[in-house]
Amino acid sequence: MANIIDGKKISAQVKDECKERVKKEGLEVTLAVIQVGTDPASTVYVGNKKKACEYIGIRSLAYELPEETTEKELLALVNKLNKDDSVHGILVQLPLPPHMDEDKVIQAISPKKDVDGFHPQSVGALSIGQPGFVSCTPAGIIQLLKRSGVEMDGKECVIIGRSNIVGKPMALLMIRENATVTVCHSHTKNLKEVTKRADILIVAIGKPKFITKEYVKEGAVVIDVGIHRNENNKLCGDVDFDDVEPIASAITPVPGGVGPMTIAMLMNNCMEAKGLTAE
Ligand code: GUN
Repeated sequence: MANIIDGKKISAQVKDECKERVKKEGLEVTLAVIQVGTDPASTVYVGNKKKACEYIGIRSLAYELPEETTEKELLALVNKLNKDDSVHGILVQLPLPPHMDEDKVIQAISPKKDVDGFHPQSVGALSIGQPGFVSCTPAGIIQLLKRSGVEMDGKECVIIGRSNIVGKPMALLMIRENATVTVCHSHTKNLKEVTKRADILIVAIGKPKFITKEYVKEGAVVIDVGIHRNENNKLCGDVDFDDVEPIASAITPVPGGVGPMTIAMLMNNCMEAKGLTAE
């Protein structure tokens, strides 16, 4: 029987700590959230970010731009917000419409306001151990592990997935925690053999219920980054929870595991942004 790592509870702790700081220190923190177009999933994510801001006492400025906005117009808005001292964090919701160059837009955000941690300067800083914003999902996973008492130092950590937003920063954070890190991806040979070595297995593979107990060492800690809807419209992760849970020592559920941590860490990054841009 595994310990179920409760992402809802831990994310609430992180948000409550932010809320307490805002209140105690009388902080005025502002996050600008830009959405281009009306992608329904993006609208849900943006709505959840606004709600979290409201809960904590962070002011959120919503920029809802039409799909046909030009890249030039979007860059002009980002530049205006970069220069605005009353704005501490800037978030451009992805994906952007196909006529825009996402990399160019991300690079236009001031690294001091890059609360998503996607700017190349933020990623570079992480890779050489310098201070900077860290991508919210991997930062949230570190908090889940720390706050559940999972030791990382000297442990074998296997990450499945090498995306810029999850896999790569996750590997860098795990190295920072002194874990021995292996990153697997679609070209990895003998995946099961590699994942079976893991004391901590972090799965961001993008395939529903892909990871069964055959991939997992007895007593491993299993972190599931995936989120999908199964044939019955129920949410599930990349890990077959019912199959893996009996042999894991700890495991995150879907929903209620990694998911809630992403927004909590975004809020945490906004607090940090306030510190960087304080007048
Ligand atoms: N789209 C899906 N997840 C994210 C995220 O964490 N940040 C941004 N900016 N866009 C996203």
